[in-house]
Amino acid sequence: DYVLTESDFVHKDDLHYPFEERGLQFGDGIYEVIRVYNGKYYLIDEHVERLYRSADAVKLKMPFSKEEMYQQLDALLQKNEIQNDAKVYMQITRGSAPRDHAFPLNVKSNLYAYVQDLSRKMDFMAEGVSAITRPDVRWDWCYIKSLNLLPNVIAKQEASEQGCFEAILHKDGEVTECSSSNVYMVRDGKVYTHPAKENILHGCVRTRMKQFCEDESIPFVEEPFRVEDIQDADELFLTSSTAEVMPIVQVDGKAVEGGQVGSITRKLQHKYEQDAG
Ligand code: PDD
Repeated sequence: DYVLTESDFVHKDDLHYPFEERGLQFGDGIYEVIRVYNGKYYLIDEHVERLYRSADAVKLKMPFSKEEMYQQLDALLQKNEIQNDAKVYMQITRGSAPRDHAFPLNVKSNLYAYVQDLSRKMDFMAEGVSAITRPDVRWDWCYIKSLNLLPNVIAKQEASEQGCFEAILHKDGEVTECSSSNVYMVRDGKVYTHPAKENILHGCVRTRMKQFCEDESIPFVEEPFRVEDIQDADELFLTSSTAEVMPIVQVDGKAVEGGQVGSITRKLQHKYEQDAG
């Protein structure tokens, strides 16, 4: 149970922060969730690159160079003797200082990263899950993986209260992504998803989906679809580091194409397994 910090490894029970911590008071920080299969990171380059892009975007000084970051993340798995499936949660905040909106002078970033067990959601992936639709009330810079997750948390809670796995978010009817995953619609053999603009998170698994579709000559159309398009969809699915490739078979109480998991979703699930395994 060792946690990586900006200075050293500490036991999780020995990690404490001052109450004036900018992550706590302002959500002034960024994070990543990285998947581990059989003790090895999956899509590590994509996650590290995105982390540094997020840091740049919010003028956050990273405590490690990219090279050191890779070494420290490897050391985290080794120190905890991870050999199975897991996920690493990592966050970096602007640091601890007396509360002031503007960045305090000489403040030092706080980093922590730790490993959690995570088994694959085999039943859900086989059968598919249900979702609700909700307005996307987030800010314009969702490509930054920021700690400010209140709109995401509320949308996910509403899904959960209705016995659903996810909330599909839309801006004026145009589907952006889900509360903690990217979303795709299949129609007439083509995969549609919102373009990787500033208003969605550029998912690491999304990047793989694009590649898998190219490999299989399935058109990958980066154009937003609308909430009302969902009723005519052949297939719907979402992706994330924790949910992998997850079929959505019901939206707002209505079945998507008879509630069956479609063949393109199955193909992409299979490609993911091969890639991650
Ligand atoms: N969430 N969109 C949002 C809003 C997300 O929070 C996530 C990931 C994704 C998918 O990104 P990736 O394929 O890189 O995991 C898309 C993580 C898993 C989380 O917050 O727990």
